[in-house]
Amino acid sequence: MTDEKLIAVIAGDGIGPEVIAQATRVLNYYREERGLPLRLWPLDLGADRYLRDKTTYPAEVHARIAQEASAVLLGALGDPRVPAFEHAHDILFGLRFGLDLYANVRPIRALGERLVPLRDFGMEDVDLVVFRENTEGVYVGIGGQFKRGTLDEVAISEDVNTRKGVERLIRAGFDYARAHGRRRVHMADKSNAMRHAHELWYRVFFEVATDYPEIEARHAYIDALCLHLVQDPSQFDVIVTCNLFGDIITDLGAALQGGLGMAASGNYHPRVERCCDQKHGPARVALFEPVHGSAPPLAGTDTANPLASVLTVGMMLGHLGWPEEERRLEQIVARAIAEKRCTRDVGGDLGTCAVGDWVIAELSAAS
Ligand code: NAD
Ligand code: IPM
Ligand code: MN
Repeated sequence: MTDEKLIAVIAGDGIGPEVIAQATRVLNYYREERGLPLRLWPLDLGADRYLRDKTTYPAEVHARIAQEASAVLLGALGDPRVPAFEHAHDILFGLRFGLDLYANVRPIRALGERLVPLRDFGMEDVDLVVFRENTEGVYVGIGGQFKRGTLDEVAISEDVNTRKGVERLIRAGFDYARAHGRRRVHMADKSNAMRHAHELWYRVFFEVATDYPEIEARHAYIDALCLHLVQDPSQFDVIVTCNLFGDIITDLGAALQGGLGMAASGNYHPRVERCCDQKHGPARVALFEPVHGSAPPLAGTDTANPLASVLTVGMMLGHLGWPEEERRLEQIVARAIAEKRCTRDVGGDLGTCAVGDWVIAELSAAS
């Protein structure tokens, strides 16, 4: 029996391998120089593999991840050579759905003053966390096409919202707010148009809120929430929302923190109190990924910003029981921005690898 933590690594497509190479250097630094009991397990999955032998996400790989891994680190998936996203769909949703990682947690925090693009707001105003439902909604893939290619064509993607799925995500958001001293939780829906599905969100949100009397519960329609996020991000602490809206507002949120090159995320299965999801099974693996995609035009140019992946590794280390290391990585990233030791998208002139060199040098100097 060992405390060693197995980390499955899926670099993926496009800029995925380039940013994950830097993230892996950070993990290897912690393993080799700081003695953290980590074992990396690189997985050859992604578009190249798919085009080679049609493999997407083998059942035996999933079983080993579920049983033996402590975490998965994923770069990005999506390749123009695979137009229907088949491999990416199997891998990404195989992990999120297959491990029931229902909370996609996406912090929106600006780690430098000049990263905030708003005229009247600074970095202290951009500090919120989005809890995105991650296993339901339109992402379930239920639907179909009828009379495809004709003028009578019908295309349906069903939006699935269950009591259990909605409640556990909302509770996870409130639990987080309580644990982290956040005063307000917003729930963003479109209950004025999606009267069945989002009336459920609305009702459950205010029901759950009664268990958290010290936290202010506010409802916002998703369209107005987008407006308010740009007009005054300082009013937000925690936002809970459905899968699709969470996807969209976290790209908007990324724009408030310096772009997609700065946005990290974790996918978890939190244990929530007083919910229908009370059967405590074995501890679940968590999945960590930068919010950005594979950015095909940047691939192979050494211009992708690796800091989102460095922050993602920080979230992983925090989750695995090393919160000081998460803070240290955040500080180093903030310094990279302040001293312009970063890529062009965030105002520097370094390449992807050079940013990684600087991060490792800073880590070594701090020890
Ligand atoms: P994208 O996130 O790849 O790129 C959007 C914009 O952000 C582009 O201008 C890109 O250059 C920039 N950008 C992204 N990451 C950056 C980084 N690290 N440094 C600097 N700039 C960065 O989104 P897209 O172009 O809509 O999608 C490209 C592919 O990625 C598609 O196949 C899409 O489906 C896929 N995708 C995958 C994931 C994932 O694997 N989790 C997430 C989003 C998109
Ligand atoms: C993300 C991505 C994915 C999502 C895509 C690639 C399916 O945009 O992780 O934000 O919508 O979840
Ligand atoms: Mn997205």
